[in-house]
Amino acid sequence: MINLRKITEENFIDAFNLKLGNGQEKFVSHPVRSLAQAYLYRDQCQPFGLYNDEKMVGYVMVIYDYDIPEYDIWHMMIDEKHQGKGYGKEALKRVMAYIKTKPFGDSDRVTLTCNVENQKALALYKGIGFKETGEADEDEIELSLNISVDNIE
Ligand SMILES: CC(C)(COP(=O)(O)OP(=O)(O)OC[C@H]1O[C@@H](n2cnc3c(N)ncnc32)[C@H](O)[C@@H]1OP(=O)(O)O)[C@@H](O)C(=O)NCCC(=O)NCCS
Repeated sequence: MINLRKITEENFIDAFNLKLGNGQEKFVSHPVRSLAQAYLYRDQCQPFGLYNDEKMVGYVMVIYDYDIPEYDIWHMMIDEKHQGKGYGKEALKRVMAYIKTKPFGDSDRVTLTCNVENQKALALYKGIGFKETGEADEDEIELSLNISVDNIE
């Protein structure tokens, strides 16, 4: 059972200690870097630890883009030891439930980007209903979902 818990002074070291697998650094920023960005965007984002019971097994950040407006999912990762156990999928559903509460402002649009070579993550996102928008920045393609009309599988 995966739960989201906000990153606080109690648990940020656990986020620092999460590990990516070999070659995965090119797909996602480590939580250390992500939390530095979270400081800059502190009025419009919420970083979370992903917990299996009492153990932090992953990390994700939700950020609100006031300009569009839309919710973005940044830097989602599951520790290498815990990948492939279904935690990523469950965590993504929890993230969508959090976004549905519209914590920063109104918008039904949820967007993220993913490296085109990251087949595992693409399968995860498309599996719950994200669709490619056609926008891309070099190897990073954009995927989006409308929480008011798209069914989240
Ligand atoms: C991508 C990531 C978050 C997925 O989390 P996970 O816990 O490993 O994935 P899950 O076990 O929940 O599997 C979710 C889906 O991913 C896909 N998937 C999982 N393992 C896969 C594999 N080896 N090959 C292809 N697809 C795979 C499947 O679609 C799966 O859904 P299904 O079980 O219903 O078929 C995780 O592997 C990770 O942290 N990777 C490194 C960082 C990263 O790439 N983050 C994404 C940045 S955009």
